[in-house]
Amino acid sequence: MTRPSGDSAIFILTGAGISAESGVETFRDKGGIWSKVRLEDVATPEGFARDPDKVHAFYNARRAGLSSALPNPAHRALARLERDFPGRLTLVTQNIDDLHERAGSNDVVHMHGELSRSLCGHCGAKADASAALSTATACHACGREGGMRPDVVWFGEMPYRMDEIYERLVEADLFVSIGTSGAVYPAAGFVAEARSAGIRTLELNLEPSEGTFLFDEARHGPATALVPAFVEAVLAGVPAAGRPR
Ligand code: APR
Repeated sequence: MTRPSGDSAIFILTGAGISAESGVETFRDKGGIWSKVRLEDVATPEGFARDPDKVHAFYNARRAGLSSALPNPAHRALARLERDFPGRLTLVTQNIDDLHERAGSNDVVHMHGELSRSLCGHCGAKADASAALSTATACHACGREGGMRPDVVWFGEMPYRMDEIYERLVEADLFVSIGTSGAVYPAAGFVAEARSAGIRTLELNLEPSEGTFLFDEARHGPATALVPAFVEAVLAGVPAAGRPR
């Protein structure tokens, strides 16, 4: 990449790995969330219909834990990139935490929703949800109880803002995947979309992801080391990706 100009565009996808060093659990690493609880029970509409109290307890515990997590240097580096990069930056996250925002990123696309928001199953109204939710939580809009859920996209549901995401993906000069296992679609398919559009691709991850072979370049290590170095290089105009592996 030559010195970044106003007409260059970077598309960044983040996953649970970028928040790991903030103490937020990932899903598929050893000892991860899905090794402790069945995703069918807590991350599907069927699981919610079967046992809403179990689902509320799962997300209430994660929401409560989030308040003690702090953004790490990787989150802060992406906030710096948003501030100082003269081109167009798109930051899409699979994460439902608010660490990108608390690090200073303002334009974050939460394709899997947000733990800090609620969604009424009766009327579709959304609201901030800083406190615990339960089946007794009444909707601020329709007043009904029993339908409130975290505004989180579950398996089998359509992620948010996908049209916008694909529009911005195909306009990018560089696609960067940070801290994701590449196990869940549609996010796992973004790298193939980027390649077919002739876009350079870079993986920054602790270890090779399931789709690592699809990337022009892959750098492996902790996000708190890789992401600040990547941002430093981009802002200095150093070629950021595409060196043959
Ligand atoms: N630095 C960089 N990468 C890391 C770090 C770290 N410190 N720690 C872990 N990783 C990497 C792991 O190697 C793994 O490849 O982050 C990735 C985390 O993978 P997952 O746990 O599968 O999380 P993610 O890819 O975000 O999951 C995608 O699946 O369960 C659903 O909705 C959930 O959004 C989630 C989606």
